[in-house]
Amino acid sequence: MANLFGNDDPADAKTVKRVRFLQTELDRHNELYYAKAEPEISDREFDRFMAELSDLERRFPSLASSDSPTHRVGGRPVDGFVQVAHRTPMLSIDNSYDEGMVRDFETRIRKLLPGQKIAFVVEPKIDGVALSATYEKGLLTLGATRGDGEKGDDITANLKTVRGIPLRLKGRGIPALVEVRGEVYLERGDFDTINAERAKRGEETYANPRNFTAGSLKLLDSKICASRKLRFFAHGVGAFEGTMPKTHHELLEAFASWGLPVNPHIRVHDHLEGVLAEIAHWDKLRTELGYDTDGVVVKVDNLGQRLELGNTSKAPRWVIAYKFAAEQATTRILAIDLQVGKLGTLTPVARLEPVQLGGTTVSNASLHNADFIATKDIRIGDLVVVEKAGEIIPYVIRSEPDARQGTEIPFTFPSECPVCGAPVTRDPAGAFFRCTGTDCSAKLKRRLRSFAIRGAMDIEGLGLETIELLVDHGFVKTIPDLFILNQKQLESLPRMGEKSATNLIDGIHQSKSRGLGRLLAGLGIRHIGESIADEVARRVGAIDSLLALGEDEIANFPGMGPERAHSLFDWLHGVEGVSTLARLKECGVSMEAAPTEVPGGGADLTGKTFVLTGTLEGLDRDDAERFIRERGGKATGSVSKKTSYVVAGESAGSKLEKARELGIPILDKAAFLALLGLSQTGLIR
Ligand code: IVH
Repeated sequence: MANLFGNDDPADAKTVKRVRFLQTELDRHNELYYAKAEPEISDREFDRFMAELSDLERRFPSLASSDSPTHRVGGRPVDGFVQVAHRTPMLSIDNSYDEGMVRDFETRIRKLLPGQKIAFVVEPKIDGVALSATYEKGLLTLGATRGDGEKGDDITANLKTVRGIPLRLKGRGIPALVEVRGEVYLERGDFDTINAERAKRGEETYANPRNFTAGSLKLLDSKICASRKLRFFAHGVGAFEGTMPKTHHELLEAFASWGLPVNPHIRVHDHLEGVLAEIAHWDKLRTELGYDTDGVVVKVDNLGQRLELGNTSKAPRWVIAYKFAAEQATTRILAIDLQVGKLGTLTPVARLEPVQLGGTTVSNASLHNADFIATKDIRIGDLVVVEKAGEIIPYVIRSEPDARQGTEIPFTFPSECPVCGAPVTRDPAGAFFRCTGTDCSAKLKRRLRSFAIRGAMDIEGLGLETIELLVDHGFVKTIPDLFILNQKQLESLPRMGEKSATNLIDGIHQSKSRGLGRLLAGLGIRHIGESIADEVARRVGAIDSLLALGEDEIANFPGMGPERAHSLFDWLHGVEGVSTLARLKECGVSMEAAPTEVPGGGADLTGKTFVLTGTLEGLDRDDAERFIRERGGKATGSVSKKTSYVVAGESAGSKLEKARELGIPILDKAAFLALLGLSQTGLIR
């Protein structure tokens, strides 16, 4: 049958491959952006991929699977909060990047509203976190993150700590119900102060105000959130029961009169030229605002016209975002070095002629893998355009082949590891090259680092610099060697005095009792990260029980699956695993689940009061109360200002409402168990 284009050829193998590639890549970048807050590519690059995929899926509808990233608004709720459905969905906005795209937007609208007078509102696009605040009869009853657009996390208690958020609307014409949509953000000055204080205390600093804001809103303890100086601008509306103004700017005026913070830089324009001039103005002057913006939003002002225009599946037709170009710079690739990861993966890193970009000097950029280099045709000596992805990680946009002089050298991966000389193999599935050496010092350093970090064995005093010294002096050749280091060896290292040596020995000694979960997380077993390692430890209790299990049995653990199970089983029963475990055991490293990993662990709840409401599936009410008591807390029947937490299960009713009203932290079952130091499966053992 002929497709839409009168073409009855099914997609060829190359197209199928490209579509599958784009779908997987976009899913991965969505996850990096939303779940990990560590974007690898710029928004613009993301949109280009998305546009290419939409186009291919339109031409070959059979390739548009229902779970394709083109059907998603983006963003996924994070565990730990009660989820709530938005009364009206929180859609996303289409982006534009140049004048032509804004003109096209206007043309589309004029075609859909022929002969009508159209006014546009132009607003700064705040680079913060989207939020919905529900007011019922003027009272703030719910704060929810966008989540997947349909459902978000109930973060009411945290929203109440945001500066400028009224707990009760004041003034005239307050609707019976309104979902106020807006952006939570942090001023740049506040962010810099917070980071400077953290740096002084030797703590990790935050990448940017948006990540910091998102992280703060997801804190279970709203007291900490309260200290974070978050702010809010209202910029839209979801559900509304009352007398709705006729235009957006009147709605915002009403919001302001009710006490909601509204951005003062909002302008109405009757003509597109005014809109474009306003965009140009902000493009230049964005840095003068005290907070980060990533563009300008252009909206049809008349709310009746908005209804006529309606939505596409993802975004309203009446609004477009003009995204500021990420700051770019052109520089030269001086060399491409390879970094060896803990599993031996070779990551190419471009050494750049230093260049100023967004207020910092950039001299390195990751080139990710062989495909990245091939697709972009990047050569040593090339001029390249770099930009900052997510305002932070430098990213190579493209090379400039026209500027070549013939001396540029294409990059090829070596057949031997640049550090240890062992053979390099190419991952059959893709673009990755790996060092196969069993005693590669670069690999070992990375492994030791991930063994010593906080989420794993948490060895105080064992930072990167010390690891380098230990390996380079030949004192540590395998992970277990750490446990036989002596004071004299350490004192012989440069810059290591008697005191630091003693502290390190103590740190290593203390790490022996971290427990099985942290140990498994630290051993650098492919696909085994902190949370799954923890789950395994809780399930099996001790290493011997784990060793007695078959691969299939391991695969049945929740969240495990065949690939991870295979990797874990292979490691445990392979040469490296067997000898590592035997030596660690000899050194007295605990191979049993730590007390915090079994019932009886968790937070000290002395002085805390809990109210349980609704059904907590699989968790008996008496057990739940006992768990609280065992940790020093108290379970009571009614919610008051003094309640520390409300634990809400299925069909929780008035107690949950009351908790929201009073701004008491609300935990769902998972968050409650996490606080107790229990897991879902820990209960079943
Ligand atoms: S209007 C249908 N106005 O940008 C959604 N959004 O990239 C209408 N944003 O999810 C949103 N400043 O969280 C609007 N002045 C502004 C905004 C703004 C920031 C955010 C918003 C939205 C995201 C889309």
